[in-house]
Amino acid sequence: MNLSIERTEAVQAAVQSIQEVLHGDVGDLSEAERLLESLSARSELFSVADFPLPSGAETDRTFLLHENADGTSALYMCTSVPGMEYRPHDHGGSWAVIAAVAGAEKHRFYSARPGEAPVQTGEKICKPGQPVSMRAEDIHSIHAAGDVPLMHLHLYGMAFHKQSERREFDPATGAERRFELDDFGFVEDHR
Ligand SMILES: [Fe+2]
Repeated sequence: MNLSIERTEAVQAAVQSIQEVLHGDVGDLSEAERLLESLSARSELFSVADFPLPSGAETDRTFLLHENADGTSALYMCTSVPGMEYRPHDHGGSWAVIAAVAGAEKHRFYSARPGEAPVQTGEKICKPGQPVSMRAEDIHSIHAAGDVPLMHLHLYGMAFHKQSERREFDPATGAERRFELDDFGFVEDHR
């Protein structure tokens, strides 16, 4: 079978399965983690040839793999250079699950009060075989680990363009910054 068709079918099946296990209850994302991890383990479907790494001044590239017509269940492939970091943020009321095809990133979790620097409350590594998830209220930052470029699948309850209430924080002062969709650069449609 054509690899592109195979990938599309695998993506649709994974999203469908995740929607079924969540069934409106997003309190426990562990099964969604397992299902997205199964998809990410099919590395033959997510080659660098099909999902190029950032080049030049780019630090990240974002490819849309799936999104429901109402903006729910949005799945992206995000590629990043080693050393990539992303400031503390939430996801505008959306839950998130991340599974790695390649590369490792550290996620730091925080509590935040207005006008105060976010306080770290935990830390997890996301790497092949070890997915992570965030509930809608969680705040995290991302820190690429090691020298392998990242190719990670990001699944959100709501697509980036629906995360308008998303909050981002200066890690030192806690000052809130308005999220701009442009921060992600151009999202390439890869459905
Ligand atoms: Fe995030």
